[in-house]
Amino acid sequence: MTHPAITLPTLIAHRGYSAAAPENTLAAVRAAHEAGARWVELDVQLLGDGTPVIWHDAEVDRCSDGRGNLNTLTWPQAKVLDVGSWFGDSFADEKMASLEAMLALLNELEMGVNMEIKVNKGRDPIELVNRVLPEMLDALSPERLIVSSFDVDALKHCRTLAPKEELALGVLFGNTPREWRALCEAVDAFSIHPHWPRLKRDQADAMHQAGYQLLCYTANDPSAFNNRWEWGIASVITDEPAIFKRFLDNQHS
Ligand code: G3P
Ligand code: MG
Repeated sequence: MTHPAITLPTLIAHRGYSAAAPENTLAAVRAAHEAGARWVELDVQLLGDGTPVIWHDAEVDRCSDGRGNLNTLTWPQAKVLDVGSWFGDSFADEKMASLEAMLALLNELEMGVNMEIKVNKGRDPIELVNRVLPEMLDALSPERLIVSSFDVDALKHCRTLAPKEELALGVLFGNTPREWRALCEAVDAFSIHPHWPRLKRDQADAMHQAGYQLLCYTANDPSAFNNRWEWGIASVITDEPAIFKRFLDNQHS
């Protein structure tokens, strides 16, 4: 049994091209595509009525004209929020993306996605996975999907629903725990996604030697990140794909 044959991109646009458009929106994914990114990282969670949406925070306050917890909203209430004006007047018409609409756009643009299962405090990882994973597996080919999470229960449940050859799983680490190897083995992980400033060289070497792909988040300054490429990092997750691309293109020209 092998993992899906994923060709990892050097750059993954974090929450879409979130430096250029409101994060986790259809506009941010279109902007990432226009900037030449082939993959995006997005966050998925549920509204109160069980509708899966692309959203990072537990509340809607920071990134919309609404107030309150995401899990108290229904889709008819959420879909009329203005989720763009906080970022810029030109995005005033932007609406919250349902998972369904986002998957359709990713297919239209033929983009890959690192979908983070965002288990905010007090939320049930099993309910979330049950609701979102079948929809993602139905819509996307395994070569264009990595499902990641900080939540080990969510990842373990994903693995009970899809075997290794049909679903690539990524384990997110802030500080890398001592038991990182056992956690990754428990979910048959494809990749490890460490917070890059906290990753140590010896940890990166051991992860790499154990056969895991390394996708680091979230780096926005290519010169600060630069020597990490020597550590065997496959992909960088960045808010600034265009800046990274320019830097790397210049280095190789
Ligand atoms: O998936 C990498 C990164 O998105 C994890 O942190 O808080 O930006 O979702 P956060
Ligand atoms: Mg995320």
